[in-house]
Amino acid sequence: MKFKIEKLARFINFLLPFVVLLSFYFLPLTSPLTWFFIFLLVLNIYSLHIQKKHTLLSNFGILAYLRYFLEGIGPELRQYLYANDTEEKPFNRTERKDVYIKAKNEGKSSSFGSLLDFNQRKYALKHSFYPRDLISTFSLNFGEERTLKQSYHLSKPLLIGAMSYGALGKKAVRALARGAKKANLIMNTGEGGYPKYHLMESCDLIFQMGTGKFGVRKENGEFDPDKLKKLSEIEQIKMIEIKFSQGAKPGKGGLLPKEKITAEIAELRNIPLGKDLYSPPYHKECSSPLATVHFIKNIQEISQLPTGIKFCLGNEKELYDLFSIMKKEKIFPDYISLDGSEGGTGASPKTFMDDLGYDLKSSLKILSQILKDLEIENQLKVIASGKLINSGHQIMALALGAHAVSTARGFLLALGCIQALRCHTNNCPTGITTHKAHLMKGLNIEKKSERVKNYASNILKYNYELLAALGLKDFSEIKPKHIIFN
Ligand SMILES: Cc1cc2nc3c(=O)[nH]c(=O)nc-3n(C[C@H](O)[C@H](O)[C@H](O)COP(=O)(O)O)c2cc1C
Repeated sequence: MKFKIEKLARFINFLLPFVVLLSFYFLPLTSPLTWFFIFLLVLNIYSLHIQKKHTLLSNFGILAYLRYFLEGIGPELRQYLYANDTEEKPFNRTERKDVYIKAKNEGKSSSFGSLLDFNQRKYALKHSFYPRDLISTFSLNFGEERTLKQSYHLSKPLLIGAMSYGALGKKAVRALARGAKKANLIMNTGEGGYPKYHLMESCDLIFQMGTGKFGVRKENGEFDPDKLKKLSEIEQIKMIEIKFSQGAKPGKGGLLPKEKITAEIAELRNIPLGKDLYSPPYHKECSSPLATVHFIKNIQEISQLPTGIKFCLGNEKELYDLFSIMKKEKIFPDYISLDGSEGGTGASPKTFMDDLGYDLKSSLKILSQILKDLEIENQLKVIASGKLINSGHQIMALALGAHAVSTARGFLLALGCIQALRCHTNNCPTGITTHKAHLMKGLNIEKKSERVKNYASNILKYNYELLAALGLKDFSEIKPKHIIFN
């Protein structure tokens, strides 16, 4: 096959000058076809003899462009035509469609049978012989362990995961925030600094402070307690989250590619324009377990709000030591946001996405065991995330020790994300992770906020129904014994 393509390339390269000569002879000089052949000839000479960047062009000439073209449209061809419904990653078409259906409030059932390969199914839920009637209440108080005056009451076991303005465009942020308000959910601001667009829709917010301290930093990049105090006094900001790491890039700070840094984002984050933005991989204040615990306490005291920490689990011995110090010092974060290594991101090096950290289910098992061994399970809440875009997986996370779950990409799909995998390029075709006006044009904030609301209410409806199928009446009753481990 290779040999034939080489021959074809040689034949084209040989023929092209004659085609141009023949077109001079048979066609008028004004003919577009003549100029098209001249263009091909010039391009071929440039490819073969002048440019030195691409070996394939030097060796084969213009035929190599065909390969680049096919390579370029390969992902679309596979997604639209060749990949089967349960094949794509991170979310296959069946999973995405399930979110779209929930977001559009369409179709309540499917038929004929599951599309899952049951030989590959690792987990399932144990339904009861005696299902219960549906009870749809949920209650969780963040900060109650410290008898905090401004504790936060969560009335649904679902949160909108952390995504910054920067990773997301302003319309996507507003659609999510408006949807959160309609669905009575709390939304995490992500580490993008002052949450200007989140605040416009008056939903409840968790303000996230990443290692770059955007929104709460001084000119020199250091933490500014006064800014945090001011932010904490904003009525909508209900909790603070200190981000140590996330599943898609543990051990690495946040990354915002320069293509996505507009003048407004640079101002909101207090950062320069025209350069990729790398946050430090760690909080300067947290060089040891003791220093970390005191940093958490400091943030709790400044904000007077429930304060959690977010991380992806790596070295379990370090985590055990950290919690031992917490126990000794009697200082605990009000919650842990535990992100599995399968979590998503707006931008990260591939190896950090693929090769680091525990997946969510293993993390939950390890974390629960550490909390149990140290007898501190009642000191804090756990929020889990990592591909929890459907009810079954959300219930499994609750069974493995989470008190509530959050999803980021579930809500992006509800907004209409087609998984083009271009969040880092500023060229999101659905206008979600871009700041380009022409790409955001089609994103209707009001319409998409309805989809966010529908997705949340439908997924919660099935959460309550699964709970009843398990024969339980309260989410706190779900335990690992309700899971079938295959
Ligand atoms: C576009 C995008 C931006 C994100 N930005 C942040 C962020 O600012 N801070 C953070 O802690 N996590 C961020 N994440 C990770 C999510 O909050 C979440 O932890 C992860 O995607 C797992 O949830 P999921 O599998 O439901 O998406 C981002 C994820 C995506 C897809």
